[in-house]
Amino acid sequence: MQTRSINLRVDELLARMTLEEKVGQMTQVGVLQDEHVEMVRSGAIGSSIVASSAWAGHEDQPDVVVDRLNEWQRLAVQESRLGIPLLMARDVIHGFRTIFPIPLGQAATWSPELVERGAAVAAREAAGVGIHWTFAPMVDIARDPRWGRIAEGYGEDPVLASAMAAAAVRGFQGDDPAAPDRLMACAKHFAAYGASEGGRDYDTVDVSERTLRDVHLPSFRAAVRAGVGTLMSAFHEIGGVPVTANSHLLTGILRREWGFDGLVISDWNAVAELIDHGVARDRRDAARLAVLAGVDVDMCSGCYRDHLAELVRSNDVPAATVDDSVRRILRTKFRLGLFEQPFTDNHRSRTILHCAEHVAAARETAAAGIVLLRNEGGLLPLGKRCSRLVIAGPLAQARRELFGTWTLNGVESDVAAIADCVRQTAPRGMTVTAVGGLVDEICSAARKSDMVVLVVGEHPNRSGEAHSVDQLGLPPGQGELVRTLAALCKPLILVVVSGRPLALTWEAEHVPAILWTFHPGGEGGPAVADALFGRINPSGRLPVTMPRSVGQIPLYYSRKNTGRPPATCRFRSHYIEGSYRPLFPFGFGLSYTRFEYSDLELSAATMSADGQVCVAARVTNVGDRSGDEVVQLYVRDLVGSVTRPVAELKSFRRIRLEPGEGRRVEFVLRPEHLAFWRLDGTWGAEAGEFTVRIGPNAVEGLEGRFTLDNAVAQAE
Ligand code: NOJ
Repeated sequence: MQTRSINLRVDELLARMTLEEKVGQMTQVGVLQDEHVEMVRSGAIGSSIVASSAWAGHEDQPDVVVDRLNEWQRLAVQESRLGIPLLMARDVIHGFRTIFPIPLGQAATWSPELVERGAAVAAREAAGVGIHWTFAPMVDIARDPRWGRIAEGYGEDPVLASAMAAAAVRGFQGDDPAAPDRLMACAKHFAAYGASEGGRDYDTVDVSERTLRDVHLPSFRAAVRAGVGTLMSAFHEIGGVPVTANSHLLTGILRREWGFDGLVISDWNAVAELIDHGVARDRRDAARLAVLAGVDVDMCSGCYRDHLAELVRSNDVPAATVDDSVRRILRTKFRLGLFEQPFTDNHRSRTILHCAEHVAAARETAAAGIVLLRNEGGLLPLGKRCSRLVIAGPLAQARRELFGTWTLNGVESDVAAIADCVRQTAPRGMTVTAVGGLVDEICSAARKSDMVVLVVGEHPNRSGEAHSVDQLGLPPGQGELVRTLAALCKPLILVVVSGRPLALTWEAEHVPAILWTFHPGGEGGPAVADALFGRINPSGRLPVTMPRSVGQIPLYYSRKNTGRPPATCRFRSHYIEGSYRPLFPFGFGLSYTRFEYSDLELSAATMSADGQVCVAARVTNVGDRSGDEVVQLYVRDLVGSVTRPVAELKSFRRIRLEPGEGRRVEFVLRPEHLAFWRLDGTWGAEAGEFTVRIGPNAVEGLEGRFTLDNAVAQAE
């Protein structure tokens, strides 16, 4: 439907609404229950979260029953005065029934195409059972692996996260979120939620306007540019102002600067939590602050429901503010086509949930996200050198645990354990013994074997919302198991399944082969087995820096040089006892083949304000297997009006090369790629010299230089 005709219909409807009905549209409740029947009839509810509680991501969930959702919709459409349909929302984060890797694992694919397809699959399945709106993608930049929610986003880098954010929005919404196989997306948690002190969830954030603009906002900007329909404001405060009451962010930047015309929803109960933050006296005051800041929908606190109408009557909130919010909500409902088609065909889901096509997509994504971090002596892939293999470890038999956090509709029986898949995939002549239980049993089996695969890592409940940690080693007991097995002098292969980067420094020095998978979803078992046996060639790359110790946090590649860089004089930025270097850098990942970079070329030594420089290099597969390489382009702005990072990812491309094949990979750089929040508070690029590097990760590659001849102001 055309925007103009939607706006006309919105205004017509708005003109017929009472103040109470308007507040109803701004009220979201949890799962609909008997107590809500009269409220729906009277137009006091605009939307519902189809989930059991605020912690749905960590709890077993009842099935979504399409007929029941249709029945609630019938009540709203046929029995309320104005017949405004309800919006049914759910956290469809990395799959609905077919579970894809957690978003961090999807980011490890460095493939926006796979992310888009994963979101499209999730949308098709969830829309099939009557969901209209997902609270995804989460596009928060995370540079602190203690933070449990690092699992839910696309890692530490704004350019990688922006590419994935846009891809996910395209995947969920398609060209038309009203299509029966699409969902409305919601970019969350606006903004800088990942920068909490100590990596503790919900905790204080104090970032400068510059860090906000340069690091935390670009992925939201990318989601808005990709047409995301809705945004969720975050729980935390920034520099003393909780986001739920932050008009600078929600109105100033989002609406005035970016022109976003979709709706903003609070996070769960966050309006009431303004009281706990200490900026609202009571629930009435909390409702006032949130609505004035620009929160259109109150998720589950009930503050709008209880106080907003009275706030308008007493002139504490302008009626026009409420009207603007309701316009945005109704516009969303029109854009979703709910007035034309409020009901869901209850046959649709039967053929699509966990269908072969979806499973194949999940498997491809799980495989592409596996990162080979170490492979001394070419221990992997497993082959002729091994005729007796032992597979053990706390996650070897894991099934549901492979899903990761926020998998409300995953079904354990859909999943095959890694140990079972290894047994099935092993070549003829190889005996695979899966050992559970005690360390002694594992050791005794290991002694009789040629090699040992140990599957270690984190239970999903060790990451996700409100699940931060203060240690970054393996969970209790697992480190000892690894050391005991490493001492047996049998070749040891570690498969790590986790929701975050872990500081496995000892393991990286003593275990010859490490294969890493961020909770890989329902197809993790076959994907890991395929990687172990070389049926696929690992091609995932780290979307986050792997630290050596928890004491190094925060550690990210695009750091500032400082006035005393680590490699200079004695009195420099470093640790007297530990290293300042990461265990594995951002963008890193090995392959069963090798890639060589050569022939760096820049099309010009100078970029003009309206021009571009093409940067190219030749990448050759010099090994004997076909493989995917992720070619990465980094830039450093050598002198700025403010300090600039030592490296910034600007672009990347995943390419497949056959053995012996070489390809010239070209990137185009324009002034917009060089833009940042300048000293004068404007967005743009500054004249001067830049280094540019094409390479396989954030610290290696071929380097050249160019100059930008004039400053260029840009739209942010
Ligand atoms: C709280 C979480 O922060 C958010 O990500 C989620 O979408 C809502 N709860 C709804 O479940």
